[in-house]
Amino acid sequence: MTHSIIIAYHSGYGHTKKVAESVAKGAQNGDTTVSMIDVSTITDNQWDELDKASAIIFGSPTYMGSASAPFKTFMDASSKKWFERKWVNKIAAGFTNSGSLSGDKQVTLQQLMTLAMQHGMIWVGQGEMGPNMSGTDVAPADAVNRIGSYSGLMTQSNNESPDIAPTSGDLKTAELFGKRIAEITARFK
Ligand SMILES: Cc1cc2nc3c(=O)[nH]c(=O)nc-3n(C[C@H](O)[C@H](O)[C@H](O)COP(=O)(O)O)c2cc1C
Repeated sequence: MTHSIIIAYHSGYGHTKKVAESVAKGAQNGDTTVSMIDVSTITDNQWDELDKASAIIFGSPTYMGSASAPFKTFMDASSKKWFERKWVNKIAAGFTNSGSLSGDKQVTLQQLMTLAMQHGMIWVGQGEMGPNMSGTDVAPADAVNRIGSYSGLMTQSNNESPDIAPTSGDLKTAELFGKRIAEITARFK
């Protein structure tokens, strides 16, 4: 049976989009159709697609310690679906990207998780262990889950072009995150 996974994201400058693409790559397997919806330009047809999806993965950059305004607009607009209980029991997950290592982005993840809970969805966290560091180690750029986030996927982008930020480790983590969501979605179907 085919499962549909949709990544509903916003990205002002392309970094979160890069992460979304890696999540999509990881989620792709034989039984899964994966698509991306930029929520800042969402159409009526795309809202219908979300209703039919098995899983929705939410992704927003962190702006001023919270989800970006276009993503928040999407959250508010989803209240129509909330009324109709359209997304109940769908698999949900979330990711955020920010400029600082912390940048208060846990707040954004909590917003995405709360959105999923309001809709009665089933939240799946990030399953990869963070790097095992000691002394004065700093997590290398190619480390998986170098930020050590578990409630969802966190990535960090220096103020550089999306061609080089976020790091290879963050993009690998995003891929593994997508794979996990696809596997769990398949289990639920
Ligand atoms: C309006 C605005 C607010 C921002 N606020 C934060 C913040 O609170 N914390 C942080 O770490 N980075 C912050 N940043 C940096 C972005 O999170 C970072 O540039 C990110 O890569 C942007 O993702 P995007 O390219 O998908 O838009 C902010 C950037 C903008 C434009």
